[in-house]
Amino acid sequence: MEELLRGWDGESVVMRYDRPTDSFIFIAIHDRTLGMAVGGCRLSSYASPTDGLRDALRLSRAMTLKWAAIDFPFGGGQAVLACRPPPTGAVREGLLRRFGETVQSLGGNYGTGVDLGTTSADMDVVGETTRWVFGRSPERGGAGNPGPWTALGVLSGIRAACTQVFGTAELGGRRVLVQGMGKVGSPLAHRLAEVGAVLMVTDAIPQRAEAVARATGAELVAPEDTYRTPCDVLAPCAIGGILNERSVAQLQCRIVAGSANNQLEADADADRLHDRGILYAPDFVINAGGAIALGGLEVLRWTTEQVEQRVQQIGNTLAEILADSVRAEESPLYEANRRAERVIEATRLKGEGAAS
Ligand code: PHE
Repeated sequence: MEELLRGWDGESVVMRYDRPTDSFIFIAIHDRTLGMAVGGCRLSSYASPTDGLRDALRLSRAMTLKWAAIDFPFGGGQAVLACRPPPTGAVREGLLRRFGETVQSLGGNYGTGVDLGTTSADMDVVGETTRWVFGRSPERGGAGNPGPWTALGVLSGIRAACTQVFGTAELGGRRVLVQGMGKVGSPLAHRLAEVGAVLMVTDAIPQRAEAVARATGAELVAPEDTYRTPCDVLAPCAIGGILNERSVAQLQCRIVAGSANNQLEADADADRLHDRGILYAPDFVINAGGAIALGGLEVLRWTTEQVEQRVQQIGNTLAEILADSVRAEESPLYEANRRAERVIEATRLKGEGAAS
């Protein structure tokens, strides 16, 4: 753990051991130059608490880049609840309330929200003990599940990527494989089916993929075949780290464009994709729709029309990044990183933001 923390470039990490559930709560605050750290709460089982911490550290960094990429007044942070197995019922609620207390104790330095393994209903419970929570259900005054907004942004990003690679944004007949039928993958699959894409779906839990396949007419792909299945677009909407030396060597797609955070195991994997001629849509750019919705609706008081417009702009932003990266003859990751860093640097120079 010591090595992980020292090797990380963020501000601080708060850890709480939760005796009743034998869980570890990690809150990583990566960078508050643009404002309070805001990022989701992931609830998952990890092989070890250290793996949970590692996930929190990387996800908090992705949030810093995501907020900067959309130029919203928030910094990067992330919570991970590492529990084996994920609790349910009253036990889960107890853990969520104690997590909320921990968030509240940070006095507005970190705000939480939904992420893999948590729902708006969970955020309602978290909200019983802290005011710093995003994505509660509409009945409790929140913006609800941001997943469909993230999916909308990913769709606009897929169109931009297709325009770059195939010269058209038309998705009719385009072969798209969506990995992960969760809060984003499932609405994305439905939208793709609606616009006539040749849809393929996969999920580590076969029933989840089967349900979406039945509803959309999608073809089922076995999890172990995901990376070697020929397609135009692979849309990773499940866990992180799926793009690595082994998987990239197998890929038979032209584009990787999906919602999962931290799709690359390491930045070098962006170069591997580039060398294979596969266009990679930087995850923190294409998956910002949920952040736009939560920040826009709950803090900036935007209407849903304003949110929709802003989410649709993700495609334009990505198109610019892709065009610049073609000129620079390098992976789009680097242009996306530079853009985000410029936003943070400009704010740092102005001496604004909440960091102190
Ligand atoms: N965790 C989701 C994401 O990475 C949604 C979210 C965004 C939650 C912003 C909190 C804050 O986009």
